[in-house]
Amino acid sequence: MKEVSGYLYRAIGIVVIGSLLFGINMAAVSGAVSLVQAAFTLSDFQIGIVVSAMIIGCMIGAFTAGSLSDKRGRKATFIYAAILFSISAIGCYIANSMWVLAFARILGGIGVGTVSVVVPTYISEVSPAKVRGTLGTLNQLGIVIGILLAYIIDYAASPLENNWRIMLGQPLPFALLFLFLLIFFLPESPRWLINAKKEKKAAVILEKMGGRIYALEVMASVKGVQSESVQQTSLSSLFKGGMGKVIGIGILLATFQQVTGINAVISYAPVIFQQSGVGGDTALLQSILVGVVNFLFTLVALWVIDRAGRKVLLLYGAAGMSVFLFYLTYSFTVDSQGIGVLISLLGYIAFFAASWAPVMWIVTSEIYPNNIRGAAMSVSTAISWVCTFILVQFFPWMLSNLGGAVTFGLFGIFSVLAWVFTKTMVPETKGKSLEEIEQELGIDN
Ligand code: GLC
Repeated sequence: MKEVSGYLYRAIGIVVIGSLLFGINMAAVSGAVSLVQAAFTLSDFQIGIVVSAMIIGCMIGAFTAGSLSDKRGRKATFIYAAILFSISAIGCYIANSMWVLAFARILGGIGVGTVSVVVPTYISEVSPAKVRGTLGTLNQLGIVIGILLAYIIDYAASPLENNWRIMLGQPLPFALLFLFLLIFFLPESPRWLINAKKEKKAAVILEKMGGRIYALEVMASVKGVQSESVQQTSLSSLFKGGMGKVIGIGILLATFQQVTGINAVISYAPVIFQQSGVGGDTALLQSILVGVVNFLFTLVALWVIDRAGRKVLLLYGAAGMSVFLFYLTYSFTVDSQGIGVLISLLGYIAFFAASWAPVMWIVTSEIYPNNIRGAAMSVSTAISWVCTFILVQFFPWMLSNLGGAVTFGLFGIFSVLAWVFTKTMVPETKGKSLEEIEQELGIDN
């Protein structure tokens, strides 16, 4: 296949709205926290429940999405997520108690967890090998644009009367658009169709995506690696044969991406800046800078990932992140103006955004075999959400009890370990078809 067809671009454009909803849902609450707390006169503990309800939903969504999407197909699973996003946004908008709000946020979280598994899976399955990294990075681009959009909408809604309702209900128009486009325009993943023994349908879609020769190539290559256990998606089957190693790599990638501290920084940027000694307004402004740098450096990944390869990006990323995290430790110890903290946080975010942020999602969706990709993605993604949850819960405690220097020093040590892990265990997947990767990894399922 020479070029990516308009048909394929359209399919990826549609699923990336799911990534956008991931980012919006996660970030929208940041502007609403104090407003909701005042509206329902909630204690810190109660508002904590409202905020973390979404991440609990994410864990449930991620854990269940894989087998659902292996059984019912990627498209049906996306539609289910879009419906959840819509109900959740309406529920948040009309909520008359903290419990309604928390429940609505759990539903939204299940939607986020679901797309966090199925978007990378779908993109990997429909993309030609040569550009699979670039197209996979669009998932992360969708997430970071969603985060920025939510900050902007929160800011714009804050003077309005129904401010927090608008902030938390803001996913609705995007969710409805997502639902509409999914139903009418999204083709099912051809690799899933072949595994579900619907070869004719798969051939028609593949031909539209890349022409007749491309269709024949993919059909032959998928069938070439198919084994007897085609429809086997039980959890126990994931840890059999050579599969255990691949699942282990996926889990470690997901874990290292989180324990280097990203979501602590994303969620608590203003607090970190304040602790470094700058005032409230400056702290907010600096946080927006974090969002902008996060967005800009995702573009760098988009540009280099299919040239440099995944592994090189992970290595440079982990090295750069460690340097800036240790610089952050140093800044917290000696710098009273906060400028060192700002520079090192931005440096850290830049390296993360250009490497581990997109690459974790891409590599985990590439290394699992076709017949269990969904279920395996579920495992590593659910673990990623568990790490996010723990980090976001404990970070404020760490910051006030251990201090900024120790906390970020710890994240720095994890980045060094992430480098060692990448160097010794992560395979390079650039430019290979999913079936070639499967064969090279020697997965015998
Ligand atoms: C990656 C991480 C996610 C984080 C985001 C920030 O997608 O997996 O946890 O919130 O980057 O940009």
